[in-house]
Amino acid sequence: MTSKISAEQTNKLFRYMRNGSSVDDFLKRFELSRKELDGVLMACKIYGKEVDVVTKDDKEVFERTPVKRYTLKKMNPNDGKMIHNQICVVSDTHFGSIHNQLHLLNKVYEECHKRGVKIVLHVGDMVDGNYPTRPENPRQQFLHGFDEQARYVCDMYPKVDGITTYYILGSHDETHYKNGQATLSEWIPRVRKDMVYLGQDTGVFDLDGVKIVLDHPGGGSAKSLSYKPQQRIEEMESKHKPKVLLIGHYHKSYSFVYRNVQCVLVPALCDKTQFQQKQGLSNNLGAYFLDIYSDKKGNIQYFMPEEIIFTKDDIWDEVGKDKKKVQQLVIEKKQRRYTRRVDKKAS
Ligand SMILES: [Fe+2]
Ligand SMILES: [Fe+2]
Repeated sequence: MTSKISAEQTNKLFRYMRNGSSVDDFLKRFELSRKELDGVLMACKIYGKEVDVVTKDDKEVFERTPVKRYTLKKMNPNDGKMIHNQICVVSDTHFGSIHNQLHLLNKVYEECHKRGVKIVLHVGDMVDGNYPTRPENPRQQFLHGFDEQARYVCDMYPKVDGITTYYILGSHDETHYKNGQATLSEWIPRVRKDMVYLGQDTGVFDLDGVKIVLDHPGGGSAKSLSYKPQQRIEEMESKHKPKVLLIGHYHKSYSFVYRNVQCVLVPALCDKTQFQQKQGLSNNLGAYFLDIYSDKKGNIQYFMPEEIIFTKDDIWDEVGKDKKKVQQLVIEKKQRRYTRRVDKKAS
């Protein structure tokens, strides 16, 4: 089976091998034999995903270990000489779409707060945009036009004391500019001091000397998850390559290393769209926590991507709970407080 299983198939199966989840349930769900499971486990190893089967309370369950990647082996992460940062990465929230999942973004920020994460990077398509040439567009949105979507970002984006969100704008955000020369980057910073704009389509973030590039390409995705990102990395000049490349837009979750660039395809935080449904495209919902150990020159010594994936059970349907019931997550001075802010036009 390993010779036939692709990276995308492995990635999909790996998502269901959660820590402590039952091996029997997994085999039944995917109608696999034990022998085939061995093949899947081997494929996971080949594609850099560490998961094993262990016995707990007389039951076989999966146990994951974080993937440790390193470029240099001379330094010990515990010797105090390295700079350690944990950051969070999110993307494609598509606010205003009926597939909005603000409650999941809130969950990610609550987790950031618990972990003491101070930096969140958003890789574009913050809002769903405006497509006048697509007749189906209004029916696919509960917020229409720039004002309603920009107001939603300002009023509803999680606000957590100590966390700064750095963001780029993507293809959907840009439609507002194309239609009326309006940009979120002009208005969000006036209201939200905790949100910092890095650029349209691409932006650079300096994490204690580690160069991180946020990238929101256009166009469709290739069959192989790594194909287009690899092409992008190939085009980069050696001296100007980032240490970390974060890619949004594809609504896919995957991480790999190529030409010494740690590349992460960042999953979306909205549900599958009508377009994806029609095209038979998958849509991954989730986020990443990245543990980055670097030296004083900005070279990465250890890089540990932790994938957070939401499943069907976590998703709210498009009937509109997010539209009507979700509150803005506001956490101030280590005390959790929720405030309800109703967007009158939206509800
Ligand atoms: Fe998107
Ligand atoms: Fe996009």
